[in-house]
This record gives sequence, structure tokens and C-alpha cells, in this order.
Amino acid sequence: MSSTFQPLRVGLIGTGQISDIYLQTCAKYDEVQIVACGSLDQHQSRAKAAQHNINKVCTPEEIIADREIDAILNLTVPAAHAQVSLAALEAGKHVYSEKPLASSVDDGLKILAASIENGLTVGVAPDTFLGGRWQTVRKLLDDGIIGRPTGVNVFAGTHGTERHHPNPDFYYQSGGGPILDLGPYYLTTMVFLLGPITRVAGLANRAFDQRMIECGPRYGTKLDVEVDTHVHGMLEFESGVVGSMTMSFDIWDSETPRLEIYGEQGTICIPDPDPVHGSNIFQGDVWYRTRETSRWTHQPRPTGRDQWQVANNDHGLNEDSRGIGLVEMACAIRENRLPRASGKLAFHVLEVMLAILRSSQKRQFIAITSRPPIPEILPQPNSKRLFAV
Ligand SMILES: NC(=O)c1ccc[n+]([C@@H]2O[C@H](COP(=O)([O-])OP(=O)(O)OC[C@H]3O[C@@H](n4cnc5c(N)ncnc54)[C@H](O)[C@@H]3O)[C@@H](O)[C@H]2O)c1
Repeated sequence: MSSTFQPLRVGLIGTGQISDIYLQTCAKYDEVQIVACGSLDQHQSRAKAAQHNINKVCTPEEIIADREIDAILNLTVPAAHAQVSLAALEAGKHVYSEKPLASSVDDGLKILAASIENGLTVGVAPDTFLGGRWQTVRKLLDDGIIGRPTGVNVFAGTHGTERHHPNPDFYYQSGGGPILDLGPYYLTTMVFLLGPITRVAGLANRAFDQRMIECGPRYGTKLDVEVDTHVHGMLEFESGVVGSMTMSFDIWDSETPRLEIYGEQGTICIPDPDPVHGSNIFQGDVWYRTRETSRWTHQPRPTGRDQWQVANNDHGLNEDSRGIGLVEMACAIRENRLPRASGKLAFHVLEVMLAILRSSQKRQFIAITSRPPIPEILPQPNSKRLFAV
């Protein structure tokens, strides 16, 4: 690294459950430095700062106004994403936000407009598609292993979050629900693998009007469910691929694979029946089967020596690395290019998710108008430049 290299100085707003993995990931890379943190709960933020050696604890307003800060890491609850991101952009700071980009198309557009007007970069989670598993799938597709893709099916069936999250309120409020919470992982991944989506239809319902918190200090608290919690979407891609997705907080268990892509010459499968796996994580098994093989081929092979194992392992993102999208964004800012987990990609995903819900209410197909830049695959093995295009 050159002597003039300056890390991106980042202020963290939102110091809840997900912030630990971000802070752990950022600590491994020179590209970013978390210089301050804050939230609505300064007691929580002080504890987080002590745990992760962050020097300053401030209010969110102070962080946004701080001239020593280049970028805001927005890990607030979904209903606050747009307000915090817009305030940061208007104060001249780049933004990396947790998903979703916003809770409405209008707010999403305002964020993109503010980034253009101010010449600033917006990045948005999920960054899981940068993981070894998804880069491997993309390489299999790019190399034509299953021929021309024609279909895709994704599935994430969970029973919600109230058994493991002490404050699960936001998952059942506007901006939450399985399509806006789990959907970004699967849709971002599908768009990375298969290109933009042009038309959708949706059907949605909810199993319960109330949920009860089943862990932590608020155990027993009842929450009103304001959003649909079982959602099916039908997807048409610009490439001609057609697909379907199921995202649910109403499913106790399932053996359905997380993702399958059907091609003229074969199938790629992400098998994990365990709901914590799937498009939600960076690492894991990839299966494919072609017309030439009678069984599934595993990638990486447990003892394999072929190129695929190398491709999966060598760029080093085969562990939970949430926050790597922010590190990649810091590189993109330096190189004057879009980050891979870009605001434009997140806007496309937001437009699709909200259209699926609207389609369920209106009982009609809905056209998707945005066309995002499709992230480049990461440099292949042995490249010293982890993120270069
Ligand atoms: N918890 C998870 O496992 C998980 C996983 C992936 C992504 N996420 C996403 O991360 C985000 C945060 O989730 P979490 O589980 O950490 O939530 P959390 O409730 O544990 O923490 C939210 C934090 O945001 C702060 N906050 C809320 N509104 C704010 C506002 N208006 N201004 C400033 N600060 C505000 C709160 O004080 C708190 O520090 C959400 O978008 C969620 O979808 C969470």
C-alpha cells in the first residue's frame, strides 16, 4: 500500500445485532477505518465502541455533521434507512446501508438522486454474492457448464425472527416482512447471476396477526404483524429466464433447496435444507449436474484438484464476511468506479420486491423499469487485487 494511502473514515450509525460482524470484517482490512459510532441507544453504542476499539461515541446527528468522517455505515432498522442515508448524502458523505435501500420506490429514487447530485457513492447490502459460493456459481454459468439458463427457483422458509432477535419489531412492520428482509439476498444473487428482471407477479398472505417475542428481556411481548409473512413471486428476466421465489416467515421446516438454476445442458443446485444457509451466506457447497453426468458434481470437491476448487477458495471469502461490500466500496471510490453492491443494484431489487407485493394486491403482472449495472465477477485465483474489475 502506498504511503499516501488513506483509509475511508467511516461513522457507524446503528449499533445493534448485525453491527458485530461488520466491525469484525472491517477490522481485517486497511481500506476502511471505523472512527465513530452512535445510535438511538448511547449505552448500547458505548458498549459496542469499547468492544471494538472505536474511539468516539456520538449522536447520529454529530456523526453525520463530523468533517473528519468520509462515509456513513447505516445499520439502523429498515424504516430509518432512507432518512439516515439521505441526511448523510446531503452532508457530503458516502453511504453504505443495510438492506433494503429504502422502504418505498420514491425514497429509493431520492437516495440515488442525492448521490448523483452530490457526486457521492451509495453501496447497499447484501454483499453475500461476493462470497466464494456465489462467485463459483457465476463462473460455472459464465463458462457455460449448464448451457443457456432457462429457469430459476429460490426458496427461503423460516419461522421468523422472534425466537432469536431480542427486538424483532421491525421484521413485522412496514419495511420488514420476508420479501424485504430475505428477498434482497436471493434477488441480488439472481440478478448477479442471471441479469435484470423485467416483469413480476406476486401472491402473499400471513399466518398470524400477532407474534410473541420468545427470547431476551422482552420475552412474552406481543407484536402486531403489519405485513404479509408468506410471499410467492414469479419473475421474468431480460435474458428470457423465468423463475419463482418463495420467501416466508411462516414455515417451520422444509427440504426444498435454496436455489436451483435450470439450463439447456444441466442444473446448478444450492442444496442446503437448513434455513440459515442459502443465499444468505458466503460459503458452502455448490452442486451441478449436466447431461453428461449421472450424478451431482460438488464444488468445491472435498479432495478435488480441479480449477473449481481453486476458484471457490482462492479469493478468500468463504466465511461470514458481512461488511466486505463496504470494503469493496472503499476500493471503488478510490478507483472511481461503481461498487459491486451498488445503490443502483439495490434499487432494482427494491423495485422488484415492492412490485411483487403490489401485484399480490392488484392481481396483475407488474413491469420493472430499472436496469442496474450487473456486478463483475471477482478476479480469479492468484490475483493480488481482490476487488479490481
Ligand atoms: N440481526 C440480523 O441478523 C441481521 C442480519 C442481516 C441484516 N440485518 C439488517 O441490519 C439492520 C439492523 O438490524 P439489527 O438486527 O442490527 O437491528 P437492531 O434493532 O438490533 O439495531 C438497530 C440499531 O439501529 C439504531 N436505530 C434505529 N433507528 C434509528 C434512527 N432513526 N437513527 C439512528 N439510529 C437508529 C438502534 O438504536 C440500534 O442501534 C436491519 O436493516 C436488518 O435488516 C440484520
